[in-house]
Amino acid sequence: MVLLHLEGVTRTVRLPDDESLTILSDVSISVDAGERVSIVGRSGSGKSTLLNILGLLDNPTTGSLYFDEGDVSALSTRKRDRLRGNNVGFVFQQFNLLDGRTALENVMMPLMYSTGSEFWRRRIIATRMLERVGLGHRLGSMPNSLSGGEQQRVAIARALVRTPRLILADEPTGALDLETGQTVMDLMDEVVEQDGAALVTITHDAAIAERSDRHFLLEKGVLRPETAEVRA
Ligand SMILES: Nc1ncnc2c1ncn2[C@@H]1O[C@H](COP(=O)(O)OP(=O)(O)O)[C@@H](O)[C@H]1O
Ligand SMILES: [Mg+2]
Repeated sequence: MVLLHLEGVTRTVRLPDDESLTILSDVSISVDAGERVSIVGRSGSGKSTLLNILGLLDNPTTGSLYFDEGDVSALSTRKRDRLRGNNVGFVFQQFNLLDGRTALENVMMPLMYSTGSEFWRRRIIATRMLERVGLGHRLGSMPNSLSGGEQQRVAIARALVRTPRLILADEPTGALDLETGQTVMDLMDEVVEQDGAALVTITHDAAIAERSDRHFLLEKGVLRPETAEVRA
């Protein structure tokens, strides 16, 4: 089942001198439910711009975006925000945790937008999620007292706490040493698989990309599939 589909997506921005800059050119990609996809590209190739579009944070300039076969561009901002909140989790290179809040409060944050029992039970749901990432003993810790690997585990717990169907990870191991990065990816693979979520990982690290089912290369805003033969 196709979860997310981009067709002929272009993203251009207008620069201060009134020139226009094309960041993404004619990008098409489908992500199936539960699938793991990697997108590799150099700095400046348009990875974060693409991730923001995949995650319904930004709109394509031209082209189409379908989530669950529904046309996202036809939605109001409010409906798109709700679709994102219910279905998409983000993991960033710099963790993006709120500094003055405990690990538990950070993981509870997405549940503030839930309704019904998920909202009322947010403390216990967030606690269980932190236990799943091995941080049940650090619920009250502030992010700045945690190691990089631990902070990323909190961020993973936050991304997954509403059991989204799509996880988007932008250089998730970029700020971690090699070994910690692998451990964090092992954990992410595990929880993503348990919950049946699709995972799109953006990286410039070939070893991280290798863990996915399908591989893409982004070069100067052009996305193309990479076959096993090319990579070998
Ligand atoms: N809002 C914007 N205005 C102007 N230039 C932008 C904007 N967003 C991104 N860019 C430019 O587009 C290119 C791709 O950016 P980005 O998607 O962040 O790349 P990556 O994540 O691969 O490093 C970069 O050259 C960046 O400077
Ligand atoms: Mg980037």
